[in-house]
Amino acid sequence: MKTVAVCSGKGGVGKSALACSLATIIAKDEKKVLLFDANLALPNCDMYFGLELGCTIGHVVRDHRELRDAVMTTASGVDLISGGSGWKELALMSEQEVESLIQQVIEFGKSYDYVIFDCAPGLGSRVYPFLQQSDSCLLVTTGDATSLMDSYALLKSAWELKPTLHAGLVVNHVANAVQGRQLAKEVQTIVGQFLSRELDFWGSVRHDVTVAKCCAERKAFAESNPLCHASQDLVDTANAVMGEAVSETIELSMLDRLKNRFSKSAEPEEETAAA
Ligand SMILES: Nc1ncnc2c1ncn2[C@@H]1O[C@H](COP(=O)(O)OP(=O)(O)O)[C@@H](O)[C@H]1O
Ligand SMILES: [Mg+2]
Repeated sequence: MKTVAVCSGKGGVGKSALACSLATIIAKDEKKVLLFDANLALPNCDMYFGLELGCTIGHVVRDHRELRDAVMTTASGVDLISGGSGWKELALMSEQEVESLIQQVIEFGKSYDYVIFDCAPGLGSRVYPFLQQSDSCLLVTTGDATSLMDSYALLKSAWELKPTLHAGLVVNHVANAVQGRQLAKEVQTIVGQFLSRELDFWGSVRHDVTVAKCCAERKAFAESNPLCHASQDLVDTANAVMGEAVSETIELSMLDRLKNRFSKSAEPEEETAAA
């Protein structure tokens, strides 16, 4: 079982939308996936799957219900455990209480291939325990300068907490793959220089109106629109989470095309000269 914490420095960068669709793509690959909405008192994943909340983590914590009672299975086969929306009992949990809850979830999650934590934004006692218990951190950023800077700060802190944590960066809301790779390189360079560590690139996801439309319709975009730009892009990320290096084909072929184009315009003269 692999545990992945989906994190970000800033809120609203697309963690929940990507986490739900990522879980869907991985589940389609015949893997058993448990998605845990780690935004305990302000969950959103249920909405992205169009589910109505019944038994939640709120009931597990307050009423000592079993974790298995809180599992909701989505149409794509992902098992989701959600927090309780607006539950004071969850909002006020201490770090130790969160830690012991996570222990229960990890124990329960042993029958799954992947346990994905969709974390709250930023740092602090609501995020650290999830990072501590995760094998890897999928760090979501946008190209916004503040989001890039906060991603660096989150990583710095996460590695102080858990030096063995594997981290992969996903750049959301990009115009194209080349822009995504460039933005990731900026963060990777800073991380290399100041933290002397390597940050993996786990792909970029284009800004895609289908994502917002699916969100409004309470659907995971990769499920209802597997061919939209964002779904296609997220397949690379899913492969990276499952241990495969992100393919550079798209942008290399784009770079190759550009190179070809420029070299072709120079070719006739060279050919003529050679002839
Ligand atoms: N690639 C994208 N293209 C267009 N809209 C997106 C994209 N990613 C996320 N969104 C939208 O951004 C909003 C915030 O996303 P959400 O996943 O809830 O953020 P977070 O969990 O980081 O707070 C949602 O309305 C979502 O549909
Ligand atoms: Mg969220």
